[in-house]
Amino acid sequence: MSSSTGTLFRVTTFGESHGPGLGAVVDGCPARLPLAQADIQAALDRRRPGQNALSTPRNEADTVEILSGVFDGLTLGTPIALLVRNHGQRSADYAPLAEIYRPSHADYTTEAKYGIRDPRGGGRASARETIGRVAAGAIAAKWLFADAGIEIRAYVESVHDVCLPREILAGLAAPDAPLPTLAQIDANPARCPHTPTAERIAGRIAAARAAGDSLGGVIRCRVRGVPPGLGEPVFDRIEALLAKAVLSLPACKGFDIGSGFAGATMRGSEHNDPFEFRDGVVRTTTNHSGGVQGGISNGEEISFRAAFKPVPSIALSQQSITRAGIPTELSIQGRHDPCVLPRAVPIVEAVTALTLADLCLRARAETGFQRKR
Ligand SMILES: Cc1cc2nc3c(=O)[nH]c(=O)nc-3n(C[C@H](O)[C@H](O)[C@H](O)COP(=O)(O)O)c2cc1C
Repeated sequence: MSSSTGTLFRVTTFGESHGPGLGAVVDGCPARLPLAQADIQAALDRRRPGQNALSTPRNEADTVEILSGVFDGLTLGTPIALLVRNHGQRSADYAPLAEIYRPSHADYTTEAKYGIRDPRGGGRASARETIGRVAAGAIAAKWLFADAGIEIRAYVESVHDVCLPREILAGLAAPDAPLPTLAQIDANPARCPHTPTAERIAGRIAAARAAGDSLGGVIRCRVRGVPPGLGEPVFDRIEALLAKAVLSLPACKGFDIGSGFAGATMRGSEHNDPFEFRDGVVRTTTNHSGGVQGGISNGEEISFRAAFKPVPSIALSQQSITRAGIPTELSIQGRHDPCVLPRAVPIVEAVTALTLADLCLRARAETGFQRKR
């Protein structure tokens, strides 16, 4: 089983949801990057459970410890080990479910593959694994900004059938319009940068929770400052690596970049992005390509979407079978997220940062130089 990702900026995550702790080892982070525990903690605080009324009531601090690779506030170029100890796990909540395959969870598939599973929580399939990715991603994001001015910003675009209105979407996507700020996105628990839509989303999530149900939705992620020349033309196309990173997140079921699936209904004459020379640099006047052509960044904003399903743990009654194949009915109690979209925002940013930090280092090795936007 591979728990590692990346070629030069290499990350391994470890830990299960109900074990003693989780975390990551980051191998390949360049030396002399200023790095403090607070840089990583800020990202984990945006991910942690119990942060507001829309997330699970599990209230975990998820405090990170840096065990190696940093001295006097600077990275050493050696492996950076990051640990978050598990506290407040309620393994007893899972006891009644130990013999049942929870619908659309990883119980059956884990057991079918390994012949054994930890029935407390989701084990490695649990979203607590993403603690390691968010902690490592905070380091990658800091390096990307310090080294190349690259900024990554994600936000919730829709939950269930509540979506940002067309004119707001168009305004946000206008060429060279400023990215929504972190403060704008985090101004409401829905992490949607338009207050009226955020309030409707919050109402929808609260109603789903009250009904014992769950909801899915879509996150938009945008990256500014990417130089032309990251990525490769065949297997390691940027969009392929981003899709793998994002679809490797629990509950993520869809990815599209640039015009995405909508491009399938357009004509070439509408879809092509014309080139122009603007302020001394090669630019395109539109960005249906989402910042990537032939698998390589073209210097425009990289913009993609990730779709998350409604989480499988719901209090409403469901049919399933036991491990012995006997039909049974279950209702999942305990502390669950009725909708993971707001908490998934920093997780999508983290895996994007990990993918791009690796590609930046690889481009430097492949071409012998680092281009800046
Ligand atoms: C941030 C985050 C939090 C999640 N919290 C829960 C949860 O509280 N309850 C739940 O059933 N699933 C939750 N999930 C989703 C499950 O981990 C996931 O659906 C399950 O492991 C099966 O994997 P799959 O949906 O990718 O097939 C969460 C996912 C994310 C990204």
